[in-house]
Amino acid sequence: MTSAHETPDPTTPPTPRSLTGTRPPTRTRRRAAAVAGLACALTLTAALPVEAAARGGAIPASGAGDPYFPFAGNQGYDVEHYDLDLDFASPVLTAQATLTARATADLNEFHLDYSGPAIEEVEVSGRPADHRREGQELIITPSAPIPAGHVFTVRVRYRGTPETVDDPQLGAHGWIITDDGAVTLNQPDGARSWYPVNDDVRDKATYTFHITTAADMTALANGEPTGPPRVSGDRSTATWVMREPMASYLSMVAIGDFTRTDGTVGGLPHITAYDPAGQETDGELRTVTAEAVQWGQERFGAYPFDSTGGIIDRVGGGYALETQSRPVYDGAPDEATIVHEIAHQWFGDSVTPKTWADIWLNEGFATYAEWLWGESRGGPSAQSVFDEYYATPADDPFWSRKTGDPGREHMFDYQTVYLRGAMALHALRTRIGDADFSALLRAWAEKHRHGNADTGDLLALTRSVAGLSEADAAQWADTWLYTAAKPAEPAAR
Ligand code: TRP
Ligand code: ZN
Repeated sequence: MTSAHETPDPTTPPTPRSLTGTRPPTRTRRRAAAVAGLACALTLTAALPVEAAARGGAIPASGAGDPYFPFAGNQGYDVEHYDLDLDFASPVLTAQATLTARATADLNEFHLDYSGPAIEEVEVSGRPADHRREGQELIITPSAPIPAGHVFTVRVRYRGTPETVDDPQLGAHGWIITDDGAVTLNQPDGARSWYPVNDDVRDKATYTFHITTAADMTALANGEPTGPPRVSGDRSTATWVMREPMASYLSMVAIGDFTRTDGTVGGLPHITAYDPAGQETDGELRTVTAEAVQWGQERFGAYPFDSTGGIIDRVGGGYALETQSRPVYDGAPDEATIVHEIAHQWFGDSVTPKTWADIWLNEGFATYAEWLWGESRGGPSAQSVFDEYYATPADDPFWSRKTGDPGREHMFDYQTVYLRGAMALHALRTRIGDADFSALLRAWAEKHRHGNADTGDLLALTRSVAGLSEADAAQWADTWLYTAAKPAEPAAR
């Protein structure tokens, strides 16, 4: 971590989200509604991340160092591929997860993140392995130690009813039962509710999903189907593959009574689905998604995945999620929301933060993409949107947190992270000029494609692409990202 980041005090009680301010009401409804009214006390324990440190000497196995999610991720190996075989007969999931991983240290035991249903069997590279569960950690002891550098497989069989991760500040996430099936929205740490995972944003992997359901249901996931579902009696199995590296928080399956439409946009498969009990069409989703993908390619460079689309379900959580290649919307989205989730494919999904403290790199960029989209289609200029928010008085809670390190319980705060994140980018644009700013967005997407990057990496790029001095870059970051106060000077014109 850079020293600019400060570990939040997890004991600070959450302040109620301010729903006042200057943003248009559709924005309020769109995202802030998700956790509005959830003013319960935070029950996060002031947990220490690295229990293995206490065991002395060994590699700290539990936790990968995220400042907001100390238990998320693990150390000692890298996952290369997840093969998830999921049989769903509501509400019971019968599953087998097979992970292919490479040891990065000698492993006598290793951890996975898992808070899902009862485990029936664990094997490592084909041999039965011991396991135990401690909180959200699944600790596996292979029958023989795994030497550093070796590739191994972990097969976990489990069965039961997954539990949604219900967090007062972060909304319901993970495995979510719907009226007609189930959907997974894993941001930030819900993947562990339905499969054993190295839930570290930096450990991207490819995925295969085999989803078995009643034959009259439809199952979708990230990426592309390998063919039509395989029917066997009254059950059918759909297989989907995500061939590009994916962070676990972006993995998605959606099961239900969907109407699916397949087409293409610029040669890419364009697959959408909607729940006909919730609406009559996904026509607007299809057209706006196609336009946003093409517009994004012009503005940000090559689309990073092999297909696109979107899923409109009736989730009830109140927020949309940028699940890789195919976002999930909770009810019919407005145009700005579609543009936002498609922009995330470049900013968040392909270029992913190194830790959750840098969530503004996702949300500020996706929100700024909405402003750019509006500006490019005859709507208000980004400058005028910026001006509107900049007029917020200095004593308003709008300015009361740090955009570049909002704290775990405020990571989805619409004002602090989304709007002020977009304002920070606009302030940068006015400093370096339109041409260099455009080049910066493209260089960011290109340089860190399918990888991870932090604010320091962005500052480095402002120097190399836009010629900003180190001092000016640092001054911009201090002013717009790391100060919990209204910047004294608005973006110069
Ligand atoms: N990342 C999502 C988006 O911007 C929104 C989101 C995910 C969210 N989880 C949340 C918003 C929890 C509020 C609360 O598209
Ligand atoms: Zn977003």
